[in-house]
Amino acid sequence: MLDFIRKNLKTTFICAAFIVSCSFLNFSVYNASNFKKPVFIENNTKKLISILDKSIQIADSTINAEKLNQLQSSYFIARKYYKQIECFIEYCSPFDAKYFINGPLVKKSDLEIGTRIVDPHGFQVIEEQLFGVDSIDGSLLLIELKLLKESFKAFESKLNNVTINDSQIIEMMQFELIRMSALTLSGYDASFTKTNSEECKNVFEGFRALLHDVKLKNQEKGYPVELHQKLISRLKLAENYCVLHKDYDSFNRIFFITQHIKPIYKLLVKIHQTELFPYTQVDYAINLNNEHIFEREYYNINYFTIKTNDTLGNPLQAKLGELLFFDPVLSGNNKRACASCHKPELAFTDGFKKGISFEKDSLDRNTPTLLNTVFQKNFFYDGRARQLEQQANDVLHNQREMNSSIEQMIDKLNQSEEYQSLFKKSFKGTADTNINYYGILKAITEYEKQLVSMNSRFDKYIKGDYKQLNTQEINGYNLFSGKALCGSCHFFPLFNGLVPPIYNDTEYEVIGVPEQINSKQIDKDKGRIIVSRVHIHQHAFKTPSIRNIQLTAPYMHNGIYKTLEEVIDFYNKGGGQGLGVNIPNQTLPFDSLRLSKKEINDIKAFMLTLTDTTGITQKPKKLPRFNDDKLNHRVIGGEY
Ligand code: HEC
Ligand code: HEC
Repeated sequence: MLDFIRKNLKTTFICAAFIVSCSFLNFSVYNASNFKKPVFIENNTKKLISILDKSIQIADSTINAEKLNQLQSSYFIARKYYKQIECFIEYCSPFDAKYFINGPLVKKSDLEIGTRIVDPHGFQVIEEQLFGVDSIDGSLLLIELKLLKESFKAFESKLNNVTINDSQIIEMMQFELIRMSALTLSGYDASFTKTNSEECKNVFEGFRALLHDVKLKNQEKGYPVELHQKLISRLKLAENYCVLHKDYDSFNRIFFITQHIKPIYKLLVKIHQTELFPYTQVDYAINLNNEHIFEREYYNINYFTIKTNDTLGNPLQAKLGELLFFDPVLSGNNKRACASCHKPELAFTDGFKKGISFEKDSLDRNTPTLLNTVFQKNFFYDGRARQLEQQANDVLHNQREMNSSIEQMIDKLNQSEEYQSLFKKSFKGTADTNINYYGILKAITEYEKQLVSMNSRFDKYIKGDYKQLNTQEINGYNLFSGKALCGSCHFFPLFNGLVPPIYNDTEYEVIGVPEQINSKQIDKDKGRIIVSRVHIHQHAFKTPSIRNIQLTAPYMHNGIYKTLEEVIDFYNKGGGQGLGVNIPNQTLPFDSLRLSKKEINDIKAFMLTLTDTTGITQKPKKLPRFNDDKLNHRVIGGEY
């Protein structure tokens, strides 16, 4: 394989360089008027190019100990310059950051690049060569150094055209704080050097330099100097904490997030809220003007579903959707409701290994929770539905699940005056207030959008109630996000595969779940490849949320693990490949995590703090009446 890569390195390089230069064309999206080129960004970029140049001079096919030493030192310096301006690069050019500068060490294929598969490039590949392999591949290293230098050169030349205003400088720092909490501190990068704490410090230094510029430019216009001073002190305090706590494994992530990142975020928002810095009019998944980072209100629920303008009737539609969700009348035999399989008392799962079909045989997959389901880009384990509305459509028609048809549903619902009037009220002011298919899907979706649970003990702790977690649970979180690597796929704080900080993409991963608990045979389910047709997605599944995991056993798409101990044991052994399953494209590292019994218990204890179903488990007390009395005996929530 390596041979193959080497042979193709030259073409890879040319193609990659081409993509880099093209993708920078996106830059102008961020047009604004009061732009002045940030000197700090430009200087760091120049320094990056020069240090990479130096490394390129040193690197060749035979890398001896002395050269390695020099290259490693240069790497650390380059990382420092990069981290200081990471917020800017990620904001202006997320595509290049992801594919060519600091993407993870896995092959990627996304809709945005068609069916092409892109090898990993950039810092993380260089880091692996310098710190993570027994024998360095000199030519690969050289190519990667050159490619990275090209990326920064392209960035440098485009800096002349980029127009970023001061509001955006503040916004990019906000995004960076989310990135830091969810990615940097969870081993997303620096995975061999484990210098994540040091890198956080570099980010804060960069913030101070950028803020210094913002202050200078706005001094005469009533810039909030007092807030600024507070923010600078806060940043220095955080930098200090990083200097004193360099060890990756013992770094107290949750303490750092609550005691340092949150206050910094709050001060940034306060500065942003002054008249000087109007918010950019971009529809983001997060509410940038909300100072309560990581809390429920912080997420913009409407971002995640089809954009419609009829938001006025939403609460009524959600109520109607709740009735429909629990009403078996939507199914072909008037017995099965959505709630037959998605039971509120089990966090909207059913407790079975796999769902049970209409004919009482087994469905293909385990029933997932619907709590927080809205926070995803795609739905189902393979992501085949792009919208919740589309998802509901799929289920209602599915012969094995609800086995109904549009005509049948509408015809039946029309036999109830109560339903007719509920539709009229809920869709008042829209084009069609009669019972129609769109209305059914929209109402169910509005109900699902309310199934958000972000008030678990863990959330309360994040909000500042520090009595909520004990030492074991805190340690469990730090292991989850640190040594055990869980947080590098189940991203804080939603703990699913929706990628922070932009939250516009859901990840699929190959972890190698076998057919049966002790089997070495990969499960037959092909996963994401069914939809994407890209071979690296063979047996890839969407990373599910582990919120409410206490209530949603059994686990995995095929439900083979009954307990959380079994799940952690699977990961501890290195997933499928670690267990001896033949799964060459596994994206989960396959070496043992070497977790002790105590550490396993701690991780489990942490996961159990994520339970919260308050206020969202109630069933309707009664269902709408029908003229046909036979239908009035249907079971609320359906039968199975
Ligand atoms: C027979 C059991 C069953 C019934 C009835 C059922 N579901 Fe599901 N549901 C499942 C299973 C199994 C999956 C996972 C399927 C897959 O990934 O391919 C699923 C997946 C989902 C998902 C995607 C969740 C995610 O995280 O991707 C949503 C949303 C959902 N169902 C909502 C509904 C709604 C709304 C109804 C009623 C209209 C409904 N379901 C009826 C079993 C059921
Ligand atoms: C490489 C990415 C990745 C890493 C790292 C990872 N997971 Fe997962 N996790 C997934 C995916 C993907 C699934 C779904 C797989 C499937 O259903 O076959 C999953 C499923 C789970 C489930 C079952 C969820 C459910 O509802 O069935 C739990 C629990 C879980 N992971 C916990 C953990 C823990 C604990 C760790 C760390 C020890 C961890 N994960 C590390 C990607 C990852």
